[in-house]
Amino acid sequence: MDIDAQKRKAAACAVEWVKPGMRLGLGTGSTAKHFVELLAERVRAGLDVVCVPTSESTRVDAERLGVPLTTLELTPALDLTVDGADEIAPDLSLIKGGGGALLREKIVAAASARMVVIADESKWVAVLGRFPLPIEVVPFGLAATQRAIEAAAAAAGAPGPLKLRRDKVGHAFVTDGGHWILDANLGRIADPKALADRLSPIPGVVEHGLFVGLATTAILAGPAGIRIVERS
Ligand code: A5P
Repeated sequence: MDIDAQKRKAAACAVEWVKPGMRLGLGTGSTAKHFVELLAERVRAGLDVVCVPTSESTRVDAERLGVPLTTLELTPALDLTVDGADEIAPDLSLIKGGGGALLREKIVAAASARMVVIADESKWVAVLGRFPLPIEVVPFGLAATQRAIEAAAAAAGAPGPLKLRRDKVGHAFVTDGGHWILDANLGRIADPKALADRLSPIPGVVEHGLFVGLATTAILAGPAGIRIVERS
């Protein structure tokens, strides 16, 4: 089974957890896209849900597929968010933001009673950090913010270079919130919470892609089948 088929299998498993009347958060990325497609099939068959998308791209997909949407302004408390991840550690801390949607993803996950992460097994890691950590920053004062992030990462025991994310034509990649992203190549983040606590107070940092204590369940699909991990 190829990776994309595994992603769809994990998404199909998560769809089974959706109950009528639920208020859902819809994640972003290729795995979450499978979830939106499979959810749309259920909606067409009569399932009654309302959903908050975590990005403009997911909003466009959901609208096209006829999935009923709402906003956090109208529906500030959600029952369940289903989203992908770039890395998943055994305590279900995550790196997210490879697709650039980490800010809305974190707001939506934090507004949800449960967050289920869906992924293929390649996302499961012993220690976070091989995937560059996305950090969303305001363009103003970029070099100063970069220095502060580098110092914070080193102080948290995870030093490494930062790189401004660029789009296909070489311009700075702009998030849905109008910010930029620095990708931090840290290699090994032994203590994600310690790093998160040092990054959050930096004035130019809007949000970072460390999700600590948010995911309640991971659904992992591999060649041998589905594995479900609950946060202990
Ligand atoms: C989007 O910003 C990310 O957080 C995605 O959820 C993450 O990159 C996983 O994407 P894939 O499902 O495409 O691997």
